[in-house]
Amino acid sequence: MDDRPIGVFDSGFGGLTIVRAMLDLLPQEQLIYVGDTGRYPYGPQPLDDVRRYAEEIAWWLIDEHDVKLVVVACNTATAAALDHLQDTFDTPIVGVIDAGVRALVSATATRAVGVIGTVGTIGSGAYQEAVEQIDDTMRLTCAACPGFVEFVERGDLASDQVHVLAERLLAPIIDAKVDALLLGCTHYPFLARTLIDVLGRDVVLVSSADETAFHVRSRLLRSGEIRTAQPVPPRFHSSGDIAEFQRLGRSLLGPELDNVEAWGE
Ligand code: DGL
Repeated sequence: MDDRPIGVFDSGFGGLTIVRAMLDLLPQEQLIYVGDTGRYPYGPQPLDDVRRYAEEIAWWLIDEHDVKLVVVACNTATAAALDHLQDTFDTPIVGVIDAGVRALVSATATRAVGVIGTVGTIGSGAYQEAVEQIDDTMRLTCAACPGFVEFVERGDLASDQVHVLAERLLAPIIDAKVDALLLGCTHYPFLARTLIDVLGRDVVLVSSADETAFHVRSRLLRSGEIRTAQPVPPRFHSSGDIAEFQRLGRSLLGPELDNVEAWGE
């Protein structure tokens, strides 16, 4: 057993989709979350900058909180920095891309699949590579969706504006007649209603959240590191506006998001 916390981070609110799945599946574990809202969005920024942010946050989680595992709950940071973080730290680091692809492969019947993500994630080729490695018989269509993250960060999940943007950005996915679409950005599950309206109910939306939580659980079980101490509430940190993180974060995640502390300078 290992009673130390698990660190989780994202550019902002998106990683809360992973936190939700982890709270449900691993209620005994203590989570420490960093939302880097002061420097979001990661998607349009150079991958080198995102790698630097990811390293700073991972360092802080490991050094200040002695976490036993870090979950990079952000596809852009996973694409930019996962290999680097795994080379830099002895603490195990888990990303969200492989988990998402495994969930996508098991959701499709036709093998025509799609992935949507930020410009950084899709441009990095990380999904194209991961799908090729996990199942090279898939017919994959990728689309970058600049602007979606900003809508989520404003708490606008289903307005006419986000609907119009989704119609434009999802056109290649609709044309490719995919039967399963991976939400390759942890913010996107919050837009599910809009995405379903635009795509129709025949397309299965797949997120990496549950698969990531299952992966973390099986790792901890395998290594004998499941926490056995009394449950303690998760802790949340933001590098941006604390009051806003608390207000919107709570409405997105639920009552577990109680108190938010400042992160960074
Ligand atoms: N939630 C992050 C992801 O999964 C990214 C968002 C951003 O652009 O900041 O890619």
